[in-house]
Amino acid sequence: MSDFTSNFWSLYVAGITVVSIVACLVLLWATGKTKHMTASDNTTGHIWDGDLREMNNPLPRWWVYLFVITVVFSLAYLVMYPGLGSYAGTLGWSSTGQHTAEMDKGEREVAPLYAKFAAMKTEDVAKDPQATAIGERLFMNNCSQCHGSDARGSKGFPNLTDGDWIHGGTPDKIVETLTKGRTGMMPPMAAAVGTPDDVKNVAQYVLSLSGSPHDSVKAALGKSKFVACGACHGPDAKGMQAVGAPNLTDDIWLHGYGEAAIIAMVNNGKTNVMPAQADKFSAAQIHVLASYVWGLSNKAK
Ligand code: HEC
Ligand code: HEC
Repeated sequence: MSDFTSNFWSLYVAGITVVSIVACLVLLWATGKTKHMTASDNTTGHIWDGDLREMNNPLPRWWVYLFVITVVFSLAYLVMYPGLGSYAGTLGWSSTGQHTAEMDKGEREVAPLYAKFAAMKTEDVAKDPQATAIGERLFMNNCSQCHGSDARGSKGFPNLTDGDWIHGGTPDKIVETLTKGRTGMMPPMAAAVGTPDDVKNVAQYVLSLSGSPHDSVKAALGKSKFVACGACHGPDAKGMQAVGAPNLTDDIWLHGYGEAAIIAMVNNGKTNVMPAQADKFSAAQIHVLASYVWGLSNKAK
């Protein structure tokens, strides 16, 4: 494959390269020939620091040979390897080809390992020290930027160690989350709830569900407004994994704790995306990753 947009540039680069090499030889030959005017004592007549005389000796032989060897080397190199414009070289080597070969070799080496894990149940993979080490490395490189290096998440990014699941914590559900990604979507709900006071009341009601400090009068008023929320969060507010609506009774807050955070959710809604990983990993790698994640909240006994 050539990156040149037209043949002209290929010839241009190849031409400059060949001319430069030939010019080196010509320069060597020319300087070897020319004799400067010399004084009778074979100096150039230049004298520095009182008595430092510049002699007019030919280049040392070994240096000339070395120079010729480098030129021969460069010509042989340019015949065998790509270097002259878009000419590919007789060896057919390319950096992409070498990269692909090394990747293939690496994959062939780990294939038996992944095949072994693929045949094991999540529970067993999660206990396997080698699989855990691989899972941890994959997690550090691909997941920690969002979920944190300890997988405890942060605002907007769920904690994966706490056994509280928005989309489901069974091995199958975790594999599904990783493979296809997830989008948690709560629409703005203020209009369905009513006045700003109604929103405040429903927020107090939500706080009351987890036993958080709340105003019980307002919470009682807000209870009837929660009907609008039950469709997704469930009438008991314990969440619904099928729509990715979190449990509001467990005092675990993905988008922040307190009245203001809840009011913001109701007024603005939220779209939260877990990117799909299917393009990045093989099914076997996802199995190992999912087992690692599953293991974080299901510690081996
Ligand atoms: C760009 C940020 C980002 C990256 C990278 C990312 N995630 Fe996520 N992940 C999220 C967000 C945001 C959610 C929550 C989606 C929601 O609110 O519905 C999530 C949700 C999840 C869930 C579901 C949690 C639950 O409670 O159901 C799992 C499991 C998960 N991620 C695992 C991973 C793994 C493993 C990786 C690495 C391969 C990863 N994530 C990489 C942002 C990310
Ligand atoms: C159409 C479905 C839907 C409806 C209706 C809905 N929600 Fe949600 N809600 C969600 C989803 C999905 C999320 C999670 C967003 C995400 O993945 O980050 C969420 C998140 C929340 C959160 C954040 C929870 C946390 O852990 O930080 C609160 C609070 C909340 N909703 C309150 C409400 C209230 C109050 C109502 C009613 C006024 C309501 N929701 C109505 C789908 C809904």
